[in-house]
Amino acid sequence: MLANYDLSGKRALVTGGAGGIGRGTVRAYLRCGASVAINDLPGSPKLAEVVAELTDEGHHVVAAPGDVGDPDDAPRMVSDAIDALGGLDYLVNNAGTPGTKAPIPPADFERQDEDFWNLLLNVNLIGPYRCTKAAAAALRESGGAIVNTASISAFGMGGSSSPYCATKAGLVVLTKEWARALAPDVRVNAIAPGAVDSDWMCRFPGLEESNSWTIPLDRIGTPTDYGEAILFLSAGAGYVTGQTLNVDGGLTT
Ligand SMILES: NC(=O)c1ccc[n+]([C@@H]2O[C@H](COP(=O)([O-])OP(=O)(O)OC[C@H]3O[C@@H](n4cnc5c(N)ncnc54)[C@H](O)[C@@H]3O)[C@@H](O)[C@H]2O)c1
Repeated sequence: MLANYDLSGKRALVTGGAGGIGRGTVRAYLRCGASVAINDLPGSPKLAEVVAELTDEGHHVVAAPGDVGDPDDAPRMVSDAIDALGGLDYLVNNAGTPGTKAPIPPADFERQDEDFWNLLLNVNLIGPYRCTKAAAAALRESGGAIVNTASISAFGMGGSSSPYCATKAGLVVLTKEWARALAPDVRVNAIAPGAVDSDWMCRFPGLEESNSWTIPLDRIGTPTDYGEAILFLSAGAGYVTGQTLNVDGGLTT
């Protein structure tokens, strides 16, 4: 059963909102009656598609194109989204990139070069900082909440690359830092997804089908599963801040 909050009059911005977890989150907010600004990369056909689809269904959504990895574009995008929505109650820092189509083993230092590090730090770690900074005043005014999308790779489970794991571990720490920074007005939490049924750029060939991942709940997480957890941490969970919730079907147990 899906959670049901009355979010009429509430306003959310979801970065990377045209992707898998992003769409699941956008749909969760819309189901509860919120208005949503959907961010994704400028020129993304997926963004135009999802905005058209949801508008046709009668929802109040606005497109918020912008690159969270760009120090100028990210605050501009957040500010435009806040103007379009008339304020902000929830910010979901969900945009992220593995920067590679195939996993880079920890020992392959050559491929973890400066450009690779810079891309991942910029999008996955400084991106959420930029958006949080730009949204802080509006969220303080509304008494809102932030949810960051981290990853179980933050906890030494391995991931698409060591820099990727490091950015997600950084985001877990920043979730605590920002929870203190913005308290008592704004709560800040994170989810750490495990396996995700999405178009994520990096594939782990054979892994999903093999026995090397034992997921107690015996299935890969859907965008709806992740959207529900983000909805709970932002619209519910009123006494929870600074926490990262593993949403992984029990994979890390
Ligand atoms: N897929 C996984 O296995 C997995 C596991 C753990 C955590 N995550 C995290 O979940 C989040 C969402 O990933 P997903 O699985 O839905 O994948 P996805 O690829 O479907 O969605 C990611 C979205 O972010 C957008 N994006 C990328 N760079 C951006 C930028 N600079 N500015 C704005 N938008 C940008 C992409 O265009 C895409 O639509 C990411 O932060 C990812 O790190 C994913």
